[in-house]
Amino acid sequence: MAFMNWSDEFSVNVREIDEQHRKLVELINKLHSAMAERKGKEVLGAIIKELMDYTAYHFSTEEKYFEMYNYPDKTAHIEEHNAFVRKVQEFQKGFEADKILLSVDIMNFLTDWLRKHILGSDKKYGPFFNEKGLV
Ligand SMILES: [Fe+2]
Repeated sequence: MAFMNWSDEFSVNVREIDEQHRKLVELINKLHSAMAERKGKEVLGAIIKELMDYTAYHFSTEEKYFEMYNYPDKTAHIEEHNAFVRKVQEFQKGFEADKILLSVDIMNFLTDWLRKHILGSDKKYGPFFNEKGLV
């Protein structure tokens, strides 16, 4: 069973963004499976990097549209992205330095953050983008 399940309630009604969110859920599940299978540091580190890289790419997509359509709530939204990136980078650094292990707590943090961010902040831009013709 997947650690995090996609649900239609996560849809922000913009196809490209929904696809990226699905991919993030998939990467979280990939990381969780590798952890459950007790994969080594190299395998876990590579998936963490993949997740970080894809997250950066995904945030840059959202932020591109914020700029393009001058989304009124962009500053607060971008700050949420930056705070998340800082936190995961900090974890990644500790993980690479053997100071922190990947744990269920960290998996829960990633899942909770993504769920709350999509349902809270991302959902807010859906109708705004739709009105601009982005679907
Ligand atoms: Fe976002």
